Amino acid sequence: MSRSNLSLPQQRRFGETSRTDTWWLVSLLVFLGFGAFIVYSTWAAFQGVNYFYGAQGAHYLSPFYSPLVFGQPGEPSMFGAMPAWMPLWVSPALFILWAPGGFRFTCYYYRGAYYKAFWADPVSCAVGEPRSCYRGEASMPLILQNIHRYFLYLALVFIVILAWDAWKGLWFIEGTGDQAREVFGLGVGSLVLIVNVVLLGGYTLGCHSLRHLIGGRLNLFSKHPIQKKSWECVTCLNKRHMVWAWLSLFWVGFTDFYVRMCCNGTWVDWRIF
Ligand code: FES
Repeated sequence: MSRSNLSLPQQRRFGETSRTDTWWLVSLLVFLGFGAFIVYSTWAAFQGVNYFYGAQGAHYLSPFYSPLVFGQPGEPSMFGAMPAWMPLWVSPALFILWAPGGFRFTCYYYRGAYYKAFWADPVSCAVGEPRSCYRGEASMPLILQNIHRYFLYLALVFIVILAWDAWKGLWFIEGTGDQAREVFGLGVGSLVLIVNVVLLGGYTLGCHSLRHLIGGRLNLFSKHPIQKKSWECVTCLNKRHMVWAWLSLFWVGFTDFYVRMCCNGTWVDWRIF
């Protein structure tokens, strides 16, 4: 058998590749999609208004502001009005958004996607690297991404809170004064809130860290049937983690947008029953 002298690995210049497919397209879409979400969510978080729609007896709270730590009279806030000493630019969203934001920012899928799309390190498979050594996530600052498992615990709490918001979105106040009563109903906003928690649930419950937490430490699945079933469910969601990530990202932004449009009167919430 003949042998050729081939020195491995082959060194390429930054961006150099022999790939002929559109390998850059996915990174471009990630850059545009994730970038648009960051711009919109940052803008929405600093607005401090139009996050709770209570007209027509509805109870729609934007997920960017839930749980509502401080709010206006008539809003479902935990601690009443915003303290007077708080700077005007501080909005209620800033107290909570760091938790779901941190969860998404440290997600294993997003890390792989935005490392390529935002700072091209690595650029893509079989495309020249910007530097000759690869430090991975084993040193500062990227070693901090390991905090993801702790953000997971917070994200699970947020799913419960958003499920409660979706439930409250199914109840409408009818009548006034002493005649006022809560009735079960369904508006388009109710559906928007329900889809939001379903998609965020599918994303969160398919987390790689959760999969490890449930089944990663077991040697014999047959002795832990409940954990085995749970692990299979998480694995099922985990297989489509990227899809859940993008659908939930789009929909959580749309949910805020829907509530915002209803609040400022641009859209009218249609009551189905
Ligand atoms: S790995 Fe994506 S949410 Fe945990």
